[in-house]
Amino acid sequence: MSTPQTATPPAIDQTEGTLHPSDPPVDESAHLLDRAPTAVDAVVVLDFGSQYSQLITRRVREAGVYSELLHHDVTWADVERLDPKGVILSGGPASVYEDGAPRLPAWVLERGLPVLGICYGMQLIAQAFGGAVDLADHREYGPATIEVTHPAIDEPAGKLFAGLPDRLPVWMSHGDHLPAPPEGFTVLARSANSPVAAMGRGQIVCLQFHPEVSHTPQGAAIIRNFLVDVCGCETNWRAESFIEATVRDIRARVGGDRVLLGLSGGVDSSVAAALIHRAIGDQLTPVFVDNGLLRAGEADLVREVFAGAFEMPLVYVDASDTFLDRLSGVSDPEQKRRVIGEVFVRQFEAEARRQEAEGGPFRFLAQGTLYPDVIESTTADTGAAVKIKTHHNVGGLPEDMDFELLEPLKFLFKDEVRRVGRALGLPGAVVERQPFPGPGLAVRLLGEMNRTDLELLRAADRVVREEIEAAAASGDLEQPVWQFFAVLLPVNSTGVTGDYRTYARVCAIRAITSEDAMTADWARLPYDLLARMSNRITNEVTGIGRVVYDITSKPPATIEWE
Ligand code: XMP
Repeated sequence: MSTPQTATPPAIDQTEGTLHPSDPPVDESAHLLDRAPTAVDAVVVLDFGSQYSQLITRRVREAGVYSELLHHDVTWADVERLDPKGVILSGGPASVYEDGAPRLPAWVLERGLPVLGICYGMQLIAQAFGGAVDLADHREYGPATIEVTHPAIDEPAGKLFAGLPDRLPVWMSHGDHLPAPPEGFTVLARSANSPVAAMGRGQIVCLQFHPEVSHTPQGAAIIRNFLVDVCGCETNWRAESFIEATVRDIRARVGGDRVLLGLSGGVDSSVAAALIHRAIGDQLTPVFVDNGLLRAGEADLVREVFAGAFEMPLVYVDASDTFLDRLSGVSDPEQKRRVIGEVFVRQFEAEARRQEAEGGPFRFLAQGTLYPDVIESTTADTGAAVKIKTHHNVGGLPEDMDFELLEPLKFLFKDEVRRVGRALGLPGAVVERQPFPGPGLAVRLLGEMNRTDLELLRAADRVVREEIEAAAASGDLEQPVWQFFAVLLPVNSTGVTGDYRTYARVCAIRAITSEDAMTADWARLPYDLLARMSNRITNEVTGIGRVVYDITSKPPATIEWE
């Protein structure tokens, strides 16, 4: 099943060809797969709580420089492993003069690294250099135009706007501002409301606006200038260099041991399988556990696609009864995820014991965990972001499991995983699949789990998929849709069919556009398509009497309903 996807800007160079001969050898004594996955240049982003912090990390990677988003309290001992060529300070909701406002870690200036301060990050730098930060006369939120001053300073900071026009549209979002630059800083740009829209001194540059959002069209060029001209980075973060270094890391960490991989058939676990297989060949055993929460026809499809795309056998385990029995009556979404995470692991352990007889024990459980899963599962006390959901493959695992985890994709964003998959030679049928959550239909069946409702949901979801895929194939969609599905609500609603009153369930259709699932907008589907889906669901799925369309973006909602 090939599904339409959003066109994302190329984050990693997709050109085939040689790996990077200039990559120095990886230090295999470092804690493997827990650090930058390759020896390319890196710039860290310190998160001061802005909703755009993750986007900054993505933009840096899109420019070909490796980046990680780290909590603003991180110590140099934890950053050193990345050998960063520069530091970016994100924006944030606080005011630098508030009690308890996040502070600039001392190491940032002590190490003498190039710094880019964005919004709150700029105000932190101003404060550190004794400059004033005031409440602006007007809170500025939205589009603005800056005038670049192009001062003739012979410092790296002077190159921040190199090659760009004198007037640039930008996106502002701030209450505080700088009435004047701190001593030693030069104004690089100003706007009607911000006398210091950008400033610099030596290798430190600051922006009042947000270069990372798409509403700042030249933002990518500004970030690139910072990375290349101020930090002196080489832009060599590519799928191929990631694969080469990760393959080395996996070999060194796994040695001669065996790895069991939980394959869901989705993009992430499939790419993880291909990557680990390249590293350790048949020491890898992929296991596809059917949890009874898959979409209509999916179990067969996964096995068919796998057989076509991989040269390794797939172990199939039908555990649907075990999952559904354990989930019966569970209604809390976090509890559903925990139950599913635990039953998965118990299934893998049981399968490992069955397989051990032939080739020896399994030390590792591999999964396709992604960077956003790691960030979104982070709790408030360990990261700046608040916990939104326990993604079952991160936080939902039991502590007493018999395996060590191997998660070679845990520093990648979804579009990067797709590029890695393509570079590994996986077909479009695998790499372009729309995301499907590990807990499957359980998080789309609101309220208590039971088998009857699962069948209703599966039937409605099949209609949604058939109709949206058909519309995409015939070019009827203005925008590519990232993810689409049905959700079964735990409410009944009155209707009339023929001469009879009905009192049947309500189903919601969710279809979204997105770049990386961190933010999303509801898809503007054609009315005729919505009408077809509604007619078919209410006619074909006995038990559903009303269909609604979800018109909520993320934020404030999440993509899944649970
Ligand atoms: P939310 O609902 O958090 O979803 O906006 C973001 C993306 O993640 C998927 N998702 C999950 N994937 N385990 C997964 O493997 C989960 O528990 C889970 N919850 C959400 C969701 O489908 C979307 O693509």
